[in-house]
This record gives sequence, C-alpha cells and structure tokens, in this order.
Amino acid sequence: MCGIVAYIGAGQAQPILLEGLKRLEYRGYDSAGVAILDSAGLRVARSVGRVAKLEEKLEDLGGFRGTVGLAHTRWATHGSVTETNAHPHRDDRAGISIVHNGIIENYAAVKKYLQERGHRFQTETDTEVLAMLIGELYEGDLESAVQAALREVTGAYAIVVMCEREPDVLVAARKGSPLMLGIGNGEYVVASDPSAIVAHTTQAIALDDYNVARISRDGFRTSTIDNVEVTPKVMQLELDLEQIELGDYPHYMIKEIFEQPAALRNTMRGRMDTNEGKVVLGGLDSFAKELVRARKIILTAQGTALHAAMIGEYLLEDLAKIPCECEYASEFRYRNPIIDEGTVVIAVSQSGETADTLAALHEAKDRGALALGVVNSVGSTIARETDAGVYLRVGPEIGVASTKAFTGQVAVLTLVSMFMARRRFMSPEASARLIGEMEQIPGKIEKVLELDDEINRVTEKYVERNNWLFLGRGYNYPTAMEGALKLKEISYIHAEGMPAAEMKHGPIALIDEGMPVVFIANQGNQYEKVINNIEEVRSRGGHVIAVATEGDERIRAVAQDVIEVPEVSDCLSPLVTVVPLQLMAYHAAVLRGHDVDKPRNLAKSVTVE
Ligand code: G6P
Repeated sequence: MCGIVAYIGAGQAQPILLEGLKRLEYRGYDSAGVAILDSAGLRVARSVGRVAKLEEKLEDLGGFRGTVGLAHTRWATHGSVTETNAHPHRDDRAGISIVHNGIIENYAAVKKYLQERGHRFQTETDTEVLAMLIGELYEGDLESAVQAALREVTGAYAIVVMCEREPDVLVAARKGSPLMLGIGNGEYVVASDPSAIVAHTTQAIALDDYNVARISRDGFRTSTIDNVEVTPKVMQLELDLEQIELGDYPHYMIKEIFEQPAALRNTMRGRMDTNEGKVVLGGLDSFAKELVRARKIILTAQGTALHAAMIGEYLLEDLAKIPCECEYASEFRYRNPIIDEGTVVIAVSQSGETADTLAALHEAKDRGALALGVVNSVGSTIARETDAGVYLRVGPEIGVASTKAFTGQVAVLTLVSMFMARRRFMSPEASARLIGEMEQIPGKIEKVLELDDEINRVTEKYVERNNWLFLGRGYNYPTAMEGALKLKEISYIHAEGMPAAEMKHGPIALIDEGMPVVFIANQGNQYEKVINNIEEVRSRGGHVIAVATEGDERIRAVAQDVIEVPEVSDCLSPLVTVVPLQLMAYHAAVLRGHDVDKPRNLAKSVTVE
C-alpha cells in the first residue's frame, strides 16, 4: 500500500530516493517524506500530496546532501493524512528515523509503556511508536535495537531505520509486508517493490518474515529478529525499465489495456501444444497426480483477482469437472472453512502480497490443503508460500485499476483448467480445439482495441450519469462485476455488476429514463435469456449498451449502442468482452477529469486487512 525506498552508497541519496518514490507512487499517494543524514545530522522533509509536492519542498529547502537516506510514500491507515503523520517518523532520544509499511497491532499498549517512560509523541501513528521503542532500546547498536524492538511488537511491517549516531548504517526488516534489498556496486537500494530498484541493480534479495538486514557501504548481514544469522538468497530481478515506463501513453492504465495482446501471448508462450492437445505447466507438473485426484477446489482472492477467480470457478467445473467454490479471501480466512482430503486451494493475486489472500492461503495450508498460486509478481510472498503455482507473465502492472493482470489471471486459470481437464475427461481433440482458440484470443483483443475511438464516443454519451448497471450471465456474470468495479474505482460513478437475472429481484427499481445499462450480450450459452433481460430494461426506459458478437443484427434492434467483439467460445469470452468495459471505464475517468492511475482512496496492493 505504502512505498519504501532507502539508499546507502557513494552517490547523492536525494535524487535516487525521489526517483524511487515516483516509481512507487502507484502504491500509495496521500503523503510522502524523505530523511537524509548529512554532515549536520538528520534532515527530514515531508508533505501531504504527491511526490511532486515533496520535490518542490526540497527545492525550497535547498535540497539535502548526503549519501544515506530513506523515503516513503504513504496510504494512510493509522492517523489522518497530515504532514505530521507522514513518514519518516523519529524518536525523541537516540536520533532514530524510520519508514514503515504495515500495521503495528499492539501499538497502543507499547505507546502507553513508552509514555510512562517519559517519551513524548508528536503523531497519531503506530510507526512513531516503533521509532520510540527502537530509541528506548538503543544501546549503541542499531541492529540490536531493531531486533529487540521487533521482538516486542505484533502486526505487519516492512521497515527501514537509520540512526544519527551510526551514520553509515541502514537496518531493514520485514514481517508480512514485502521488502527487497537491491545489491549494487558499493551501493544498496532497499525498496518495497523491485520497480524502485531496477534502475540501479538487478541483483536483489527478498527478505523473509522476521528477517533483519544490516546494511553498510561495505556489505550487509542478514539475521532473524533473534539474531540468528541467515544466509541470503540473491536473485536476479527480471524487470526492465521500459516495462515500467509510460512510453507514448498518457496513463499506465491505457498502456496496460493495449498491452494485453502481447501480455497474453507471453502468458501462453510455451505452455500449449496444439498437436498433442496438451497444456504444459512446469510449475504444476510435480503435483499433477494430486490435481487429477482433487475432490474440491477453492479459489480465493480479492478485488479484480476475485472476479478472475469467479471465472476460474466456471472454467474448472465446466472443463475439468471438479466441484469448485470461489470466495473472498477476507471471508474465507475467518469462517472456519471445511478442508477435506483432496481439497486444493488456489490463491489468485496480481501483487502476490494482498494481506487477506495471504492469510487465506495460510489458513488453507494449516488445514492441510494443497496450496497453489496464480500470481503475477515473481518472488512475491504468495508465490513463495504456495506449494506450486503458475505465473501470469503479463509484466509489471502499475495502473491501480487492474486490467492486463485480470486477463492474465483468466488466461492462466483457463490453462490450469485445461491442464486438469485433459488429464481427467477431456479428449485430445477437444483440448486441441480449445488450445487453437486460445491462440486466437490476442488477435481478437487487438480487434476490440481498434474500437477505442468508438468506445470513447459511446462513453461520452453517458458519462454524466451517476448510476450504471452491468449485467451478464454465466461466464460473463463475473465480467459484469469487473466492468462495474473498473468504472467505479477510477471514474467514481456508482455502478453495480450482477447476474442479469438478479436485476428483477430489486435493482430493476433503479432503472429510469436514460439510465445506462451495460449488457455483456455475446452469443454464448444464455444469449436468448440475455435478450429477454435487455427487453426488460428497454421497456423501463433504460439505455442499453451491449457488448455483442460481430454482425449480430438482433442486438442492434434492441440496444441503443452496440460494441462489437469477435466471435469467441463462451468459456473464453470474458478475455474479449472485458476489454470494451476496461476502455469505457478509462474514458469515463478521463472525461470526468480524474487521475486515472492514482484514483482517490485506493492502493494498488492492499497489504493490511
Ligand atoms: C486492490 C487493487 C485491485 C486488486 C486487489 C487485489 O484492491 O486496487 O486492483 O484487484 O487489490 O490485489 P492482488 O494484488 O491480490 O491481485
């Protein structure tokens, strides 16, 4: 949710930290701050708003010179959005400064203890409590003080700490919130996300839970919070700068929508064998037996990933014939779920860091389920903690509104379903046919993208309306949910998505003259039923925008606006029908003048409950 970047090396820290913050800004952006140790001691600047505001402030202050520092971009959890509550936070005795992602759950009790010992607090945040605790326990060695403090707290954290009395040291630690140490040549960049590291180095280690890194210009040491030495595993970051830059696009969201054909080609590359009618998923091979024998599959996720998982539920039942449930991770984790032998849990997540999805995964594993991940971020916590999994390979997604990760998740879940189906009931011919169709999907999406201007014009007609409905059936019921979510999250228009039949049970009361109702009305299994629902909306004055199959004249007769998509099998149709909905949401947000990539109140990755 928040972003952390810290630097120690021979270069000037300020430009490196600011550049890192800009790359991380998509993770949280209500305030930002930086602390740098220069010859005069600790210099701190913080500001409410975007990183650009912090940059202006630093300019006004004449800039900070120093080669060690830490910085943060915040998405408020504890404490309101004010400059005082922005990170870095400091203690009142030992010259400690800290940036923190996550939540210290027992902060109130620790704060009381520290107040009794005479500490004076400036902010309402849990992070300041941690700064004070480290200061309280400081006896001349920052690493030991951090370890001791972390033994006293519960909750989640990724932190980087520095101390005026040890100007050549950074200490970083994590539990439940991602943190990486980028290893350069005589310099180190610590960050919550590889996008802030790759400009400097592609060698990095991902800290594990309860691990602490002490970093100086000469090297680093990793240990646990109990000071047991840990051998670090250095990995190669496979992210190149071009992937995280805007290029000629005005926003990441539109860039990522247009990247979908290439992204999906990447998702499928080397994973499908048309001749043999086989899906090859290296990550699942060693668990093929368990998957073939699986009795139940539970898919769990949040947000857009949940909508992809819902489509996965249809796919797995339809293709692989395995009973399947799909559930919000936040509900699953607390409801005492029944996990029998033969239950497989699949966590679906773009970031691989969503707190609820991770906790659901832990719950499932503790109860004996085989845990699989369908994840985009390589090396993320969910990817590391599942027994096996399949990466999306759609490249980094920066826009807060998820687009290419959604189609990537649906594509991977299709592959997983086919992987199981072929080993269970599906004939080689049927499988080969579906594989052939999958290969056509990127080209079909390209055709939808050609309609961008037309979709913009349709959106313009309705953009002033404040209530929209999105309706679909079967495979496209989750697509309708996703269309509504996209529209509300970036354009702030109220939208609801639901099964088309459910409309009659209440939401139909909302329909008045001119209300936009988007139907996913491609020629799938329930086409006739959808037509009936369209008539019901029309007769109450609603304006129907239909996403329909190319050349469908019947739809033209009943809908005010039609967006045509190429013909596609029902089970693959969400990969194509969702694209016009993504474009509509994008254009609505632009037309309404919103910041598309940084919608209010949202964070790209929700790492707290
Ligand atoms: C946040 C994001 C959504 C995303 C959801 C799940 O709410 O704003 O776009 O779908 O988290 O994230 P994940 O990284 O687990 O897919």
